[in-house]
Amino acid sequence: MASIGIFDSGSGGLSVYRELVKLLPKERYIYFSDNAHCPYGEKTAEYIQERAHIITDFLLEKGADIIVVACNTATAAAIACLREDYPDVPFIGMEPAVKPAALGTRSGVIGVLATAGTLKGSKYLHTRGRFEDNVSIVEHVGDGFVELVENGILDGPKAEETVLKSLQPLLDKGADIIVLGCTHYPFLQPVIERLAGPGVRVIDPAPAVARQTLHVLQEKGIPTGEGPFSIDLYHSGEPESLQRIYQLVQ
Ligand code: DGL
Repeated sequence: MASIGIFDSGSGGLSVYRELVKLLPKERYIYFSDNAHCPYGEKTAEYIQERAHIITDFLLEKGADIIVVACNTATAAAIACLREDYPDVPFIGMEPAVKPAALGTRSGVIGVLATAGTLKGSKYLHTRGRFEDNVSIVEHVGDGFVELVENGILDGPKAEETVLKSLQPLLDKGADIIVLGCTHYPFLQPVIERLAGPGVRVIDPAPAVARQTLHVLQEKGIPTGEGPFSIDLYHSGEPESLQRIYQLVQ
């Protein structure tokens, strides 16, 4: 049985956990929501690196064999230094799904929704640079999306109004694929899909991240599939938001 540590600024990483548990249903999961410090999106890289180190120490102390950084913003800010500072620990990070979007677009325009921290990170800019000769890539920060999810507002007029403000500029530019570049956003996917209409596909990178986690566990020879399944949920702030979203992914 593998012990899989997962962390995010809040409940968003549960969109990754939801995919992990489909592929790896018999492991031990340790989830940490850093909701006392959420959102990460506008914080400095140094601040997020410090949080990522504290949380990594906590997850390792709890016995994690592998750590999934289930947060695009923390991946952008901290995964390189985590890999350097903990050379024996396998870390899995988030990848904005620009490649499948670039391969799938018919309009030649793909839209990326993510936090400011992710969009200005070198990892994203590098990925963008690989594809921008062939497709037009337009971005928007999902303003207020993280707050909606943390407050359990996943649909209804307030969610629609907030989502549309960030989504409409991408649709106006002709995007026919929307990449969700923040792990909170898949919890708003039904609203995003409804507002975008049937001609637009929305891509959540979590299934690919789950496959990569399985691959790395196998590569490292960490046994899986033996059970029993368990999950421990930890949070640095109040418990309600994490419990609310956890109900949705069980
Ligand atoms: N869920 C996060 C991400 O994937 C962080 C959002 C935030 O805290 O701003 O980027």
